[in-house]
Amino acid sequence: MAQLIVALDVDAAEHAERLIDQLYETDVIFKIGLEPLYAYGERIFKYMESRDVRFFVDAKLHDIPRTVAAAMRVLVRPGAHILNVHALGGAEMMQAAVEAVHERAGEIGIAVPYVFAVTILTSIGAEDLNELGLQGGPGENAIRLAALARDARCAGVVCSAHEVADLKQFFGADFLTLTPGIRPAGTAHGDQKRVMTPAQAVAAGSDYLVVGRPITEAADPLQVTRDILDEMRATVRA
Ligand code: C5P
Repeated sequence: MAQLIVALDVDAAEHAERLIDQLYETDVIFKIGLEPLYAYGERIFKYMESRDVRFFVDAKLHDIPRTVAAAMRVLVRPGAHILNVHALGGAEMMQAAVEAVHERAGEIGIAVPYVFAVTILTSIGAEDLNELGLQGGPGENAIRLAALARDARCAGVVCSAHEVADLKQFFGADFLTLTPGIRPAGTAHGDQKRVMTPAQAVAAGSDYLVVGRPITEAADPLQVTRDILDEMRATVRA
């Protein structure tokens, strides 16, 4: 069963807390990205812990293995369901992250959070890769990095819903996919270019659907969330 992740990309802690209060009965997972993490990270972690909700820390870590492992240990807390790293940090870094998460989860007695890898950011095009000295297009690089992430025992990758079918074919259904760029039919795309509806993403086989602004900017975030969950439940997976 695919799960819904709500991206709390809002600049004020009070706004994020209000959204958690409005949505927590739906059992969605909350995504804490760089802005909330740096602006009010500690506060929102405490709040989520007090509300007993699950969350995804979208910290996209990329540093030497020891530093990433140490940061991962800090981010493993009750409620942490998913953490992530950049696959471009390399195999050793990803392995160190996965090991640190296992170790720390065992120490504090919680279920081991999943580590996902970001392969190629969707903002990076073929020319950017060339400029960086990486051969091949975004698709090829994403597959190569996904293989590295799988070998490092990452649970899956962050990708476009358009790539899910290929990734599942290459790596099997157990290798998880987490897909932003989801837009309910009829809602504004904003800066997202290649979108899928919740039903399309579930049908394509996505395991975690990330939705931000269509929920956070809605007049009634709870109703929009319920509608998306209904659409997801009504859809048969690929
Ligand atoms: O508001 P929206 O639904 O576009 O939010 C999508 C979330 O997913 C944002 O937090 C964004 O940073 C994140 N994301 C993305 N595309 C990627 C990776 C992450 O939109 N390729």
